[in-house]
Amino acid sequence: MSHEFIGWFHFKPALDNQDEIELGYRLRKAVWSKGYATEGSRALILKGFKELGTQRVVAIALPIHKASIRVMEKLGLKFEKKYMHKTNQEVVKYSLDKDEFDIA
Ligand SMILES: CC(C)(COP(=O)(O)OP(=O)(O)OC[C@H]1O[C@@H](n2cnc3c(N)ncnc32)[C@H](O)[C@@H]1OP(=O)(O)O)[C@@H](O)C(=O)NCCC(=O)NCCS
Repeated sequence: MSHEFIGWFHFKPALDNQDEIELGYRLRKAVWSKGYATEGSRALILKGFKELGTQRVVAIALPIHKASIRVMEKLGLKFEKKYMHKTNQEVVKYSLDKDEFDIA
């Protein structure tokens, strides 16, 4: 184990809806495409649904961030809507409810 910093994740109440837990991630380029974003996100989602009382996980991304959206899809999040974010950029929102997630 190298203990090298490879990036960060967040898993926190969404600013516009505290009932939704927003997942986010950004990893250093050197470690892309090794499955780390999916692995780390899946661990957070599992912890949320199993231990933290999370009912709904959401994630947003710019449509051009295809890798980020692919990670959401691999985790089982489904496209919900496209809308204008407060940053004045159009974003896509994906979501996953607890009862849709395969906890096993
Ligand atoms: C998005 C990001 C976290 C992905 O991390 P990662 O550890 O490489 O992700 P994973 O390896 O778990 O999965 C990446 C998936 O995207 C796919 N992918 C990569 N580039 C892609 C592209 N241009 N178009 C479509 N899919 C792409 C990979 O093939 C992989 O899918 P697969 O397993 O079906 O082959 C990383 O690229 C990143 O930090 N980017 C920086 C900016 C960013 O997009 N941040 C997110 C803002 S919400």
